Formats: sequence, structure tokens, C-alpha cells
Amino acid sequence: MERTFVLIKPGAVGRGLVGEVLARFEKRGFRIRGMKFLRVNRELAEQHYAEHREKDFFGELVGSITSGPVAAFVLEGPEAIAVVRRMMGSTNPMAAEPGTIRGDYGLEIVANVVHGSDSPASAEREIGLYFTESEIV
Ligand code: RTP
Ligand code: MG
Repeated sequence: MERTFVLIKPGAVGRGLVGEVLARFEKRGFRIRGMKFLRVNRELAEQHYAEHREKDFFGELVGSITSGPVAAFVLEGPEAIAVVRRMMGSTNPMAAEPGTIRGDYGLEIVANVVHGSDSPASAEREIGLYFTESEIV
């Protein structure tokens, strides 16, 4: 079993997509180990996206994730990191395959519905940024 960190971005929360997106992961068979609804502040956003600090879209990215509440999850299942990434689809929703979350629910790259950890090291780091040990059940 593997754990991954998933975050439903503010745009998708605002569009009322939390239930639908979470339902896809639940129906696939992932177990929810952590779940919270929060507003990401600038400090947390900059830590979350630290790997992109030098990119020209960093300001837009931080602005976007801090623009409204998000839903954050720790999901557990076999090969959770890779399976969640496949379910999310390509980063650019215009290139994402229909049937993937990004391919079904949006067209904007910064507001691309969902974030998922891209490696075991990222998953551990991101779970630790958003959840304390006692919040993982
Ligand atoms: P994520 O981290 O959100 O799961 O997405 P990802 O791994 O597929 O993509 P990544 O390269 O880590 O980029 C993080 C987020 O930055 C936004 N982005 N904007 N304007 C641009 O060219 C651009 N490129 C990336 C996306 O919202 C992406 O999810
Ligand atoms: Mg990423």
C-alpha cells in the first residue's frame, strides 16, 4: 500500500466539483486516510510549490492556489501515486485525455482541477505540509 497527497484546487471547489472528483478516487478503490477543507496561505503555497520557484508562472500558481478554499486528502492504495497521476491526466487540460479528471473538467492549465504528488518523496513532503500525524487516520 502506498499513500499520496491529493488537493482539489480553488477553481474546482468554486465550481462545486469536490464531490465528483473525490467520488472518482473512492470508486477506484482508494481509502481516505486524511481529509480537510482549508484556505492555503501564501507561506504554505510557496512551500508546496517550492520546486517551481524559478518558473515564470510561479506567481500565478501561488495566486491561484491561495484564491479560495481547497480540499486536501491523503489517499491510500496500491501504487497510489502513479494511479492517481494517471487518473488526473496531463498537466495541460487541453492535452489531457477525455476520461481523465483534467480531461473531463477543465481547459485552464493553472486551474487544472487537481494536484497529486509525483513521487514517493513528494508525497511524504506534501502530506507533512498539510497534515499532522494525528490527522491521518
Ligand atoms: P501538480 O503538481 O499540480 O499535480 O501538477 P503537475 O505535476 O502535473 O504539474 P507541475 O509541472 O508540477 O506544475 C504544477 C502546476 O503548475 C501549473 N502550471 N502552469 N502556465 C504554465 O505553463 C504552467 N505549467 C504548470 C499547473 O496548474 C500545474 O498543475
Ligand atoms: Mg507537480
